[in-house]
Amino acid sequence: MIKKSLILLNSISVSVPTTAYTPGSGELKVEVILTINVTPNEDLTNENTVYYQELLYETFSVLTTYYSSSAATKDNFIKVVVYRISKGSLVVDHAVILNSQTTTGQNQVAAATNNLVNGGATLAFGPGQTTPVAAGATTAAIYTAGGINATVTTSTTICDTFNTLNTCPTNQECSMNGNGVPYCAPLKSTDNFPLIVGLGVGIPLFFIVLALIIVLCVYNSKCHKSNSLDEDDDLNRTMPAHEGFFTGAIPGRFNSWNRLADNAFHGHCEYERGAYDNELFRGKDPNVHVKRDLQVLDIKKAKCLSSTQTTASITSVE
Ligand SMILES: *[C@@H]1O[C@H](CO)[C@@H](O)[C@H](O)[C@H]1NC(C)=O
Repeated sequence: MIKKSLILLNSISVSVPTTAYTPGSGELKVEVILTINVTPNEDLTNENTVYYQELLYETFSVLTTYYSSSAATKDNFIKVVVYRISKGSLVVDHAVILNSQTTTGQNQVAAATNNLVNGGATLAFGPGQTTPVAAGATTAAIYTAGGINATVTTSTTICDTFNTLNTCPTNQECSMNGNGVPYCAPLKSTDNFPLIVGLGVGIPLFFIVLALIIVLCVYNSKCHKSNSLDEDDDLNRTMPAHEGFFTGAIPGRFNSWNRLADNAFHGHCEYERGAYDNELFRGKDPNVHVKRDLQVLDIKKAKCLSSTQTTASITSVE
């Protein structure tokens, strides 16, 4: 049985338990020593003073309001039992009684107190009772029914506290639900899956597109730029026949960077043209060169267009 002392205070009856609360059937008790960052305006060493009883009741009322409205605890909240209060700043030894058959309740209380300690919520006392009137908490020591304890501080995360109070099964880890309550969730190994798929598809796709662009560029410049080469070639055709015969057939002829670069891009068309030159005109009259170049130009254009047109051009040369 709980020993109680009944105090009449301004016609309000306050029930002050002096021994630990014994949870009833279906109740989960989580005991907390909460250090609230307010300084009591009067002495608290004698619990029979009016001020002590006033502040005790105010603390009970403030904590009842807090736990019954906090997203973390409101669903299972039954009541708060305040054992005692003391200075330093304001230390409140109390129990939170929850409607819970599991250890979920202790994680809910951990989340609610963590919110007070880490700036998520404040507690407001009556005017003139504390300085300041409202503040958060500096620490919360949590004592669970299972005998495991944890301390909530500004340097601990809710998952630090959770991992002190609980041990997740293999392949599970601390996560938080929508109410900020920690729980054991499957490891987030699948989180890497989209990244792996993205890189696995993206990188090969990048190189395929790059290769496609290069092929298109080379193909286009073969057909396009080779026409401008012909203008240079036409000038070269005024050289004696024996030099002209080797035009396009011998790489050494490309004696400038521009030529080399062109050759790299247009090697295919050049080579075919060169071979054609040697085959058809070797040892023939040099005067035919200008006419020949015009024909060759036609052939080169045709080769890049279609094979039937090429055949037609060759026929016309012969
Ligand atoms: C938790 O605190 C209680 C009360 O102070 C104590 O009896 C118990 O041994 C502590 N549990 C652990 C695991 O330290």
